[in-house]
Amino acid sequence: MIDNFGRKINYLRFSVTDRCDLRCKYCMPIKSQKFYEKEKILSTENIKKILGLFIDVGIRKVRITGGEPLIRKDILEVVKFLNKKKIKKEIDEILITTNGTQLTKYAESLSKSGVNRINISLDSLVPEKFHFITNGGNLENVLDGVFKAKKNNIKIKINTVLLKKFNEDEISKMVEWCAKHNFQQTFIEVMPVGELITSRTSQFIPVSSAKSIIKKNFGLENHNQKTNGPSRYFKTSLGNIIGFISPLTNNFCSTCNRIRVTSNGMLYPCLGDNGSINLKEILHKQNSEIREVIKNSIFHKPERHFFNIEDDAYITNRFMNTTGG
Ligand code: GTP
Ligand code: 5AD
Ligand code: SF4
Repeated sequence: MIDNFGRKINYLRFSVTDRCDLRCKYCMPIKSQKFYEKEKILSTENIKKILGLFIDVGIRKVRITGGEPLIRKDILEVVKFLNKKKIKKEIDEILITTNGTQLTKYAESLSKSGVNRINISLDSLVPEKFHFITNGGNLENVLDGVFKAKKNNIKIKINTVLLKKFNEDEISKMVEWCAKHNFQQTFIEVMPVGELITSRTSQFIPVSSAKSIIKKNFGLENHNQKTNGPSRYFKTSLGNIIGFISPLTNNFCSTCNRIRVTSNGMLYPCLGDNGSINLKEILHKQNSEIREVIKNSIFHKPERHFFNIEDDAYITNRFMNTTGG
């Protein structure tokens, strides 16, 4: 599928739940966070139906996101459905972005069901800091999950959101840790998605700051790896590959290849735009009709986001947990 601006769209990010067992301060800052009502959440059958329709129209890469996708009880059924498509070569990759809390339980089955790469969110390697930023998370449990995934031959990418006065001092240590364990790593600028009590500016560090710290300590050379994701990749003298996602300081929308579906069945063609289409409402229609709606929505994907860190009210109607990043 090619959109209005000539971009090839072949990557679907499917948020299977907006619930999460953690409460990262920049993502779900309020303990009493409101979630979609249970009746609004897609059933397993509807998730499979929507996935099938997107694959029909040309999606080749599916990333399962959340909230925390592994807390959905039917997650393996969804992954196994995708694996059948992968075995038939109807898609190329099944990926998961997870906070890692359930990996000790699921790593082996995921690996056996066609998941060979996962991205794990990890903003600190200090147990107390991890507990603080996630509002109660247990670092040891997450690390056990990370290593269980590694043992099951799943390639790991660690996602670290850069946070002022929180993890600036851990950047080098995390780079060394990832190099030691052969994990890729991505540093991400915090995005103004969802309203916080504090301002986003107070959290924000540009990726350029992280880059200069890493360059000084380990060297940093351009690397030509391309996943068609928003990351720009570099290699350190330790041999590890590091990506930087800089939606605020370096817009990458011209190469965007992705669209999103949320757990209540809304299609969001752009993370940084409120435009959406309710797929759940039209699921009773003929498949051919639904495919046309999907194709039309993708064709009209917005050209770019207009994130501005000074504008705290940029996207207010949802947090990252509803679109899964
Ligand atoms: P790869 O397949 O490895 O390229 O992964 P990815 O970077 O697409 O996936 P991941 O789920 O790890 O996302 C990493 C971060 O990038 C998250 O913080 C997302 O919110 C952010 N991100 C992903 N896609 C987009 C996008 O289209 N626009 C913006 N602004 N941020 C995005
Ligand atoms: N800005 C940037 N990244 C965010 N994430 C969650 N909220 C935000 C935000 N406001 C990240 C998580 C996870 C990924 C899916 O999105 O840390 O790695
Ligand atoms: Fe949960 Fe991920 Fe949001 Fe943290 S960033 S609260 S782990 S969805």
